[in-house]
Amino acid sequence: MNPLPSLRRYPRSSRSASPLLLDFLAPSILRHNQPRYSSTNASSHLGSNSGSASGAGSQKPKYVLNKKQREYLDRALRVNQAGELAATLIYTAQTPQVVRSHPHLRPLMKHMYDQEAGHFSTFNNLIAKHRIRPTAMYPVWEVAATFLGWSTGVMGREAAMACTEAVETEIGSHYNDQVREILSWEADAQSRGEELDDELKEMLATFRRIRDEELEHLDHAVENDAKEARPYDPLVNVIRLGCRTAIKITERV
Ligand SMILES: [Fe+2]
Ligand SMILES: [Fe+2]
Repeated sequence: MNPLPSLRRYPRSSRSASPLLLDFLAPSILRHNQPRYSSTNASSHLGSNSGSASGAGSQKPKYVLNKKQREYLDRALRVNQAGELAATLIYTAQTPQVVRSHPHLRPLMKHMYDQEAGHFSTFNNLIAKHRIRPTAMYPVWEVAATFLGWSTGVMGREAAMACTEAVETEIGSHYNDQVREILSWEADAQSRGEELDDELKEMLATFRRIRDEELEHLDHAVENDAKEARPYDPLVNVIRLGCRTAIKITERV
């Protein structure tokens, strides 16, 4: 299974040329030559989906993201896409080893993999749509995630589950930070009598849904004896540190 084809259709060099390419992140005044965003609202900076239920008929002006906020979203989407790639590869490497000795875990492993594949597809679509460059660390994360999945799979079911527990603890809190940030923009918009663009509202809902699914994986891991992994503390701590480091690097590179 190759989860990457949709990404590889978009070479990195094609999307890093200009900040103006960040279409939904750019003020509409800079997008006059991009016909697919034909917002009729002069104050809208995000591409409104005409006919979207949440925005239909709203008279409120749209909240305009500043440069710092646009850069935040750029980084967030790049990190999320890389993280979901890693998640699919971890499960791909773990699953054969885990289900060989514990066949009853096959449906659970498949369920978690399928959700990760859905997340990955979501962020592939978002970074392609908004022409955000993927991380230059992509090949490194591919190898690292596969190694992490393979090695914890070799260590056994408990270690594989401890890996999920560690990863989802970091990723769940990472998504939570993003949700909190966008909610702070929403509060700012409301204080000005404005509202978030429909596309940003939809992104907020997506982040919340995916965060909940990651936390569901965390619960599954604990229910399946993640805490019984030996040595539990060093294993979980090193994986969590690795996740935090990968997030920091991917935000920038
Ligand atoms: Fe995920
Ligand atoms: Fe997950």
